Amino acid sequence: MSDAPEAAPSRFAPRPLPGVGRLLDQAVGWAPPLRYLLTEARKAVRKWRWRRMGATGLRVLDPEALRGKFREALDWVARDGADKVGDYLELGVFNGTSIIEMNKALSAANLNHVRMFGFDSFEGMPDSVSEEGSANWEPGMYATTLETVRRRLNEGGVPEARSFLIKGFFDKTCTPETVARYKMGRASVIMIDVEQYTAARPALEFAAQFITDEAVVIMGAWYTPVPYEIGAQRAYGEFMAAHPEFQAADFGSYAGFDRQAGHAYKLTRRAQA
Ligand SMILES: C[S@@+](CC[C@H](N)C(=O)[O-])C[C@H]1O[C@@H](n2cnc3c(N)ncnc32)[C@H](O)[C@@H]1O
Repeated sequence: MSDAPEAAPSRFAPRPLPGVGRLLDQAVGWAPPLRYLLTEARKAVRKWRWRRMGATGLRVLDPEALRGKFREALDWVARDGADKVGDYLELGVFNGTSIIEMNKALSAANLNHVRMFGFDSFEGMPDSVSEEGSANWEPGMYATTLETVRRRLNEGGVPEARSFLIKGFFDKTCTPETVARYKMGRASVIMIDVEQYTAARPALEFAAQFITDEAVVIMGAWYTPVPYEIGAQRAYGEFMAAHPEFQAADFGSYAGFDRQAGHAYKLTRRAQA
């Protein structure tokens, strides 16, 4: 199992030289092409820094707390037998910590047939987050590489034959082609670990088709301190309002490093009349 060095338990990387940044902003304020170049250069530096932190094992969530919630979820979905447990889906992977923890929970529960799917841009947050209203969100934040994540999963003991990383922004990867390519079917635990409403909402819509009877849906960024309108809670609220075929029951929270992190629900598909 991986015991990569753990960096500061912060979701947000420190920003270097903020005063210099302000001066640069003022200097290019009158020249849109220069402003564009500066924005792109900053994004490139930000991605480089996140990639470096991701490669050296930064964890942006508390692995033990999440593993505990995974164990509870697996206990519930396997209560009528291991053969009732379908795939694990994760939308929002960063450098793979939650997949590693899910794999440990699966091994402990003897559920070694469950496949794990991880969807992520691996380029971090999209450019559109700069217009979404949170000063903490920046394009390229959480960037990693597919190779880094695969390496971390291998070091963490996640079997390659049962784990699949699907690279790209959700609007390009959450498609019928992906479903067909991987012969995706029933899912029993679904982790939506993106902070923005604009990503969490389509992620939930995509995941819904795999809840054939019941699943635990874990909203990993439930307690991210952003206004309701732009965050994951709105995505879940709207999703449930749009899908009366699902009945939800509360499945509790789990902790992050410095505050509550995620919240889970048991979703059951209602019998058709
Ligand atoms: C909070 S991190 C996930 C943390 C992760 N579960 C872990 O174990 O560390 C959120 C991830 O969502 C990804 N992401 C955000 N918006 C996305 C989108 N529209 N399409 C694909 N990935 C996206 C980011 O690249 C980032 O890796």
